[in-house]
Parts: sequence; structure tokens; C-alpha cells
Amino acid sequence: MTDYVPVLAIDGPSGSGKGTVSRKLARRLGWHLLDSGALYRLVALAAVEGKLSLDDPERLAHIASNMNISFAPASDLEQVFLEGKEVSKDMRTEACGTNASKIALQPTIRNIVVARQRRFAQAPGLVADGRDMGTIVFPDAILKVFLTASPEERASRRYNQLKDKGIDVNLAALSRHVYRRDRRDLERNVAPLRPAQDARVLDSTELDENEVAEYIFEWLLGTGWSPVKVSDG
Ligand code: DC
Repeated sequence: MTDYVPVLAIDGPSGSGKGTVSRKLARRLGWHLLDSGALYRLVALAAVEGKLSLDDPERLAHIASNMNISFAPASDLEQVFLEGKEVSKDMRTEACGTNASKIALQPTIRNIVVARQRRFAQAPGLVADGRDMGTIVFPDAILKVFLTASPEERASRRYNQLKDKGIDVNLAALSRHVYRRDRRDLERNVAPLRPAQDARVLDSTELDENEVAEYIFEWLLGTGWSPVKVSDG
């Protein structure tokens, strides 16, 4: 009996398509899904709702340790709950993303969040998307992918994603926010956004999400991991 759980780590900047592709792959594999950015977003949202300063490490740490969160399975809608209340839309705004990126600079918060993220690794496997999945959180992932896309393409994808979710946005303002958020995530001292040494880098600018998922699925098969064959007799 082993408690080894295969992890597929997909990292990249915002708008690289990692969220959509991770969900697709988790469904196809029948694995769990970790949207690791959601945890930073939820700490930020809880702090804002509680009218706390984002520079108060002690109180943020308390939230990060104690907040009660849940996610609908990868096969269902992208629903997220904080203290039993659905916050799927509130946590997706660019303002919440910016706050998440700010609190993600704090090492104390990262340590707490990372410990919670690791608990998502459960049988039969986990697809984890974020910024430091391959470098810090799951260094033993069986496959690490770093997804990129041109800044213009990423801004336009974020724009369409937010619009689809019914969130009002302005493309020019969004591009500026995304640019600033990426710089902060790239330049921070702790767990900066970068490919793990053993990551496969994929530029998705010219690819649609099905093509990206297909590349990654083929790479996964190339690791020697194989889907469990369901007995038909
Ligand atoms: O993936 P996202 O846009 O939901 O992430 C929101 C912010 O959270 C991102 O700008 C930086 C932070 N984050 C992080 O520091 N580490 C992760 N693994 C995921 C997100």
C-alpha cells in the first residue's frame, strides 16, 4: 500500500490559460483540481470583507489558517464557497487578484497557504495550477508545465474570461492591472513566478485550450504514467 499521489503541476502568469486547461485535464483524468490562486484570493477577500488591512500579517495569518473554504469538484461548475457563502464571482475580480498578489508577498501567509494547498494531493491524483506548483509546493510532481502566452493574448483572454463570468471590465485598465500583477509575482523574493528547472515550457499564444490540453496529456503519457484501465468484464 502506498500513499503516493501523482501531481501534474501547471504554472504560468495570469491569462496563460492554465486554469481552463487544468480543469479540462482534471476532468479527463478524473483527478482532483487545485486552483492555488483561489486560496490567496480567498484570504484577500475575507480580509477586505472584514475591513482588515492587507498589511496586518497576524490577522491575515489567522484568516489563512482558519478560513472555511470549499470548491465544487472539477467536473462541476467553478463554484467556490467561503464560510458557506458562494463567492465565485467576488473572488474573480481583478481587484481581488491584485489584493491576492499583494498578500502573496508575505512569507508567513505563503507558508500557511502552501500547507493547505499540499492537502489537496489526494488519490487518484491532482492537477495543480498556480505560480509555484512545480518549484515549491509539489517539487516531486510527475510533470511540470510552464504555460506562457504573449501579453496581448493574455490580457484579451482575461478580458473574455471576466466578461463570461458577468464581471464588468475595461480592456485597457485590465491590461495595466495584469501587467503590474505579473511584475509583482515575477519580482517577489519568495516563490517568484518562474519555471521549475525540470518544467516543460509551452507557449500557448497560437493554440486553443484543447490543443494545449492535448500536448500536456501526451507529455503526461510520456512520463510513463498511464491511466488506470477500467475493467470491462
Ligand atoms: O492565479 P490567480 O490569478 O488566481 O492568482 C492570484 C494571485 O495569487 C497571483 O497574482 C499571485 C498569487 N498566487 C501565488 O502567489 N502563488 C500561486 N501558486 C497562485 C497565486
